[in-house]
Amino acid sequence: MCGIVGYIGKKPAFPILLSGLKRLEYRGYDSFGFSVLDYNPPAAPKPFLFKKTGKISQFEQEFPNPEGEIGIAHTRWATTGAVTDANAHPHFDCKKEIFLVHNGIIENYQEIKNQLIKEGHKFNSECDTEVLSHLIEKYFKGNLEEAVRKALREVKGAYGIAVISEKDPEKIVVARLSSPLLLGIGNDEFLVASDPAALITRTRQVINLDDNEIAVLKPDNFFILKEKPLVQIEWTLEEAEKKGYPHFMLKEIMEEPEAIENAIRGRLLIDEGLVRLGGLDSVQEKLGKINRLILVACGTAGFAARVGEYMLEEYAGIPTEVDIGSEFRYRKPVVDEKTAAIFVSQSGETADTLAALREMKKKGVLTLGITNVVGSSQTRETDAGVYIRSGPEIAVASTKAFLGQLATLALLTVYLGRQRDMALVMGKRIVSELAKIPDLAKRVLSLAPEIQKLAKKYKDYKNFWFIGRKYNAPIALEGALKLKEISYLHAEGVAGGELKHGPLALIDENFPTVAICPSDSVYEKMISNIEEVKARGGPVIAIATEGNGEIKKIVDDVIYIPKTLEMLTPILSVISLHLFAYHIAVLLGKDVDRPRNLAKSIVVE
Ligand code: G6P
Repeated sequence: MCGIVGYIGKKPAFPILLSGLKRLEYRGYDSFGFSVLDYNPPAAPKPFLFKKTGKISQFEQEFPNPEGEIGIAHTRWATTGAVTDANAHPHFDCKKEIFLVHNGIIENYQEIKNQLIKEGHKFNSECDTEVLSHLIEKYFKGNLEEAVRKALREVKGAYGIAVISEKDPEKIVVARLSSPLLLGIGNDEFLVASDPAALITRTRQVINLDDNEIAVLKPDNFFILKEKPLVQIEWTLEEAEKKGYPHFMLKEIMEEPEAIENAIRGRLLIDEGLVRLGGLDSVQEKLGKINRLILVACGTAGFAARVGEYMLEEYAGIPTEVDIGSEFRYRKPVVDEKTAAIFVSQSGETADTLAALREMKKKGVLTLGITNVVGSSQTRETDAGVYIRSGPEIAVASTKAFLGQLATLALLTVYLGRQRDMALVMGKRIVSELAKIPDLAKRVLSLAPEIQKLAKKYKDYKNFWFIGRKYNAPIALEGALKLKEISYLHAEGVAGGELKHGPLALIDENFPTVAICPSDSVYEKMISNIEEVKARGGPVIAIATEGNGEIKKIVDDVIYIPKTLEMLTPILSVISLHLFAYHIAVLLGKDVDRPRNLAKSIVVE
């Protein structure tokens, strides 16, 4: 989510770090920072530190241009801790001798922090990363890589880190677990980066660090704990920004399994059938007394909220209603002290959703946010909330954040359900199935070539219905929205049962229907709806569960998704629909990342 660059060599590090960071700007960030060491023996090294919230360009005039040939830099996209100068990286230890940048999440940071505070460490920020610099300080006995190795043994979560210290100055120590890091091997210089875009202009020779590996970069050599092959990067700078994908939207769809993984990481207590949502700790007791939920959102986030409605009513047993921000703000909703309102938004800045939030606050209702952007208005104004941790989403049409929202709503369902009547076995079932979902999502992504072929077959139709029932009724709406917003084809979503109340009138051989019909409690009903369409000559693409050979006899085409719990099927079905919309739009030559007339964040009414 965040960006890392490090440099060690014979040239001044600062300008190289600065240009590397600028190449990471496309990813989005809310703060940034540098640390540079001037190591000119026998003079004592003087560490330089500069970190700020805001954009690099706002401060360029102020940069003091420090001397030194060793440095690390970072762009932060907040996930733990607000957007403040103190929470920006690099983080440092008590003596300000060790500096560190980090991508990822330290899941057990609170426990480690409590322990380190007892041992006398003084913290400067709320950021999870800071525990790493203090842990390294704790273990430092003169050799930095040794201290990093010992510190990392204690942490759970994901990390890509780069560390420097004035007490062992001629090196950068880097390490990774589940967060990418590349070593750039140049002429008399070595770089480290989280993203090829940051080092591509200095070298194309890279080594991909693997999980659990630690590397040490020195001015004239480097070593990793084992031998690794050199790889040549062939990407242009623009391709590198998109990780080699032709569009941000495809990159973001391909990151959907990771978005689910990030949303659930560190939050599942499988043996207890519980979930841990630290952001709700302060309102836990109040939530136990709530007997009605109102979910408010706009666009794609609104469809996630609708799936949440099914989950929360069925498994948490709480009466739930969903409304879109632009309507809700003008309704006169009847609420009381036992109502909680939950606002779902990727950006946390959507004007209609915020207006609804402010209205609910005026009425004294408990307000919660399910948000991607840390420090956004929604997160500042709600009483409590849960971050979905999907990372920056650049394409206008929301994809991976939708997956983060669905996974988070499933977590919330278990959280609230277990406060009420949900049995331990049911909690365990949902939680253990959620743990498997990222791998199942990857299986859906592996169908991309097949879905692309289907897109070729259907791209010349001008109209589409999308149908689904129960958990997948909102996914029909999302499938249609995604197709219309990026391909400009006419697409409508409707609950399967509504077909005969109007939409059927439009069906003929030129009006295909995408039918989401996993093998679940409404499967038979969906088959009846499909038959209604087929009887009128409409072509049908079914999204069905793997192993259902029968359905091929009724429909024209099938996309198979893996089996999972009924409430989690939307997570898998929607991935196939995101791919379908994407490929049709690309085949029609549309600007998929920036569709006409639309914007990423609608901050006006
Ligand atoms: C815009 C975007 C959509 C998004 C909606 C809600 O319309 O184009 O992709 O779903 O806003 O945005 P939010 O940031 O509140 O989730």
